[in-house]
Amino acid sequence: MTALASKEDNDTVAQALATGAARLREAGVEAGRRDALLLLATALGADPDMLRLRPERRLDAVERSAFEVLLDRRAGREPVSRILGTREFWSLPFKITCDTLDPRPDSETLVEAVLTRLGDRTAPLDILDLGTGSGCLLLALLSELPAARGLGVDISEAALKVARENAAALGLGRRADFLCAPWGAALGGAWQVIVSNPPYILSGELPDLALEVQDFDPPLALAGGPDGLDAYRALAPEIARLMAPGGLAALEIGTTQINTVETLLRAAGLAEFGRERDLAGNWRCLLAGNAARPVD
Ligand SMILES: C[S@@+](CC[C@H](N)C(=O)[O-])C[C@H]1O[C@@H](n2cnc3c(N)ncnc32)[C@H](O)[C@@H]1O
Repeated sequence: MTALASKEDNDTVAQALATGAARLREAGVEAGRRDALLLLATALGADPDMLRLRPERRLDAVERSAFEVLLDRRAGREPVSRILGTREFWSLPFKITCDTLDPRPDSETLVEAVLTRLGDRTAPLDILDLGTGSGCLLLALLSELPAARGLGVDISEAALKVARENAAALGLGRRADFLCAPWGAALGGAWQVIVSNPPYILSGELPDLALEVQDFDPPLALAGGPDGLDAYRALAPEIARLMAPGGLAALEIGTTQINTVETLLRAAGLAEFGRERDLAGNWRCLLAGNAARPVD
């Protein structure tokens, strides 16, 4: 029985919020009050801001029990985005499931980095996203580039099903294809833009991740091998082979990996490099071109 279940049936919003927040904090959830508000709003089918304005509103039994179910999940350290099944990325709504990484705000650095380096955003363009997951990188780019087409590749068919649904829901399905394959191995062609956010967590660091990540992001999306670089070793020669002359690649990297990954890309024959920091000031995006196009 949860703490809330022992309360009166007719808790107010203010009481339910206070009890819920305390329960989440006890479970180790940092932003307990914010998350309790979001979950209460979901249970009540209300807007969180409107809820704040009505602290005296009383919950009926059905609402209280719905709130308890959501609180139980969050107390088990399931992220709010996973409980709700949706995450906003690049101001677009993305469906997420247990088969997809929960897209991170820091990954928007890649989208921004590519867009700022493209000249004419209305020009036709072929974009390749290796390890597409929910499709967030590819679909964010397509949403900004009206004449571009894209291919999202992933080894997880279950993730691709979600990516296809996201493409359709965002009205981008006609410009986005998806393929189940290991990185670029099955591909040919010449791609003007290649993006990838591969798994890059070191095996030894996986047990130290927050429970929200460790227990809920798919292992396939996290595990980068003993030194975190397995995926980059596979990707470097494939990106070099698949990049069109004058093309651009943008790779997400872990906070300490930028120099090592740059060395791997250089060894594969890629030429000029650019870097972008994330919101916290860490190097998060490594850009590469080929001899035909310097990247600043
Ligand atoms: C860190 S997630 C990134 C997902 C999405 N692009 C994002 O930024 O949220 C890495 C993705 O790579 C996929 N992946 C892992 N190994 C792969 C492989 N060998 N070939 C293709 N995709 C792979 C995973 O299934 C996962 O969806």
